[in-house]
Amino acid sequence: MMERILILDFGSQYTMLIARRIREMNVYCDIVPFNKIPSITPDIKGIILSGSPSSVRAENAPQPGPGKLPDDLPILGICYGAQWLAWSCGGTVDASDAREYGRALLSIKDAADPLLKEVPAETQVWMSHGDTITSLPEGYKVIASTEKVDNAAFKVEGRPVWGIQFHAEVHHSEFGRQILHNFVIGICGCTGSWTPAGFIESTVAELRKKIGGDKVVLGLSGGVDSSVAALLLHKAIGQRLHCIFVDSGLLRKDEFSSVLASYKGMGLNVKGVDASARFLGHLAGITDPEAKRKSIGRDFVEVFNAEAEKIEDVCWLAQGTIYPDVIESSAVPGASATIKSHHNVGGLPKDMKLKVVEPLRLLFKDEVRRVGKALGLDPDILGRHPFPGPGLGIRVLGEVTPEKISIIQEADKIYIDALKRWGLYDQVWQAGAILLPIKSVGVMGDERTYENTIALRAVTSVDGMTADWVRLPYDFLSEVSDAIIRGVKGVNRVVYDICSKPPATIEWE
Ligand code: XMP
Repeated sequence: MMERILILDFGSQYTMLIARRIREMNVYCDIVPFNKIPSITPDIKGIILSGSPSSVRAENAPQPGPGKLPDDLPILGICYGAQWLAWSCGGTVDASDAREYGRALLSIKDAADPLLKEVPAETQVWMSHGDTITSLPEGYKVIASTEKVDNAAFKVEGRPVWGIQFHAEVHHSEFGRQILHNFVIGICGCTGSWTPAGFIESTVAELRKKIGGDKVVLGLSGGVDSSVAALLLHKAIGQRLHCIFVDSGLLRKDEFSSVLASYKGMGLNVKGVDASARFLGHLAGITDPEAKRKSIGRDFVEVFNAEAEKIEDVCWLAQGTIYPDVIESSAVPGASATIKSHHNVGGLPKDMKLKVVEPLRLLFKDEVRRVGKALGLDPDILGRHPFPGPGLGIRVLGEVTPEKISIIQEADKIYIDALKRWGLYDQVWQAGAILLPIKSVGVMGDERTYENTIALRAVTSVDGMTADWVRLPYDFLSEVSDAIIRGVKGVNRVVYDICSKPPATIEWE
């Protein structure tokens, strides 16, 4: 039976990080809203209560429910979770005089406690709270303190319940991983059997059972998620998986043919559909970014539908939905509510009368990559930067024309190839060229020019929700700028985007 840890989400911006840390230990975990504790089945080995932007002292402070937390399962409260554990049993929680944010030095008071196994006597932790536990209930024992916070970590005597007021899940807590490991592996007794190979085996078996002898249709995008979903289904049902790969004319240069060849090389039953004339035709005259997205989205659905209808007796639609898209956000207004993906243009049709199968529902992005690697996915597709569904349609600002698409494809290729040649591609989360809707004056040879401007964008990010611009070497930027201006007709100026997100976005439209 698959073992798992339950994370009750009280709305902390770090809830996802807790899940990531646990998954890194090859242990499966589920994030559920704090008030939707599921029935406790034997596969649940422990519960973690997350932090929260709320205060336990507030009138509508979030309370775990429905019902009581189980008595016999190990529980770890983090920040708000710890404060709630203390407060709900008669401890006191007050607004901290010195709101504690940032680094603090933790001193261990009980080195024998299993939660603190192999944690040094003094270690740096990350604090982020406005409240603090000023007195613990009876039977609660302090196991670690910081200079400002006496009750930084506690254990409930006689019960497998711990609380920590610091964030073990963030990188800045030096031994945070060890503490979470002590809880998940040492205390809850998880074995760490959630591996790519184990996932593939169980998923393939489930898919076979679910789909039986039916046919499935899946839209490939050239991205990691849809490709891995296809490989899993292919392993389960072989040629009864029908893949459709649509050329919108808005893909990177040569991408349609190279990715199609790669899919065929992997044995997938895939049909490439060149619909570029239709997409570009409908984009003529449209300048508003949202109208462009809608036009592209509509074409995509129509082209896909028409192709799917040609597959006789198909009754399943496969989608590459991943875990961050399926987590139900906690009702606490806070950062965790924003983890839901906000872009669905370029996604698959939702109004088809097909049953939906989502083989990647349980996986985070990096896990999708690990599974893809284990399935032998082409390394080129595996390590590919994210690319927006509407493609270059939103990287040509203003009206999209075939000429502009050709300019952006050439410039983008020079840029991406250079990133690869310089060994920078894998250090960048996403990169691309943008064609700006302005012309500027230049001089080439003896002639004055009046041509287009290309902006280059490169960002680091974890999930696309926030991002920072990459400090690419000046020599690299200089080489790319020269190559674009020399090699791409119609461009006489290249600029580099130095904005983080927020306040800017990754894409320009
Ligand atoms: P922004 O521009 O909002 O982008 O910072 C965040 C991430 O989402 C991608 N993106 C899209 N993906 N359809 C998609 O499938 C869209 O309409 C869309 N718009 C932006 C963007 O490339 C980045 O990875």
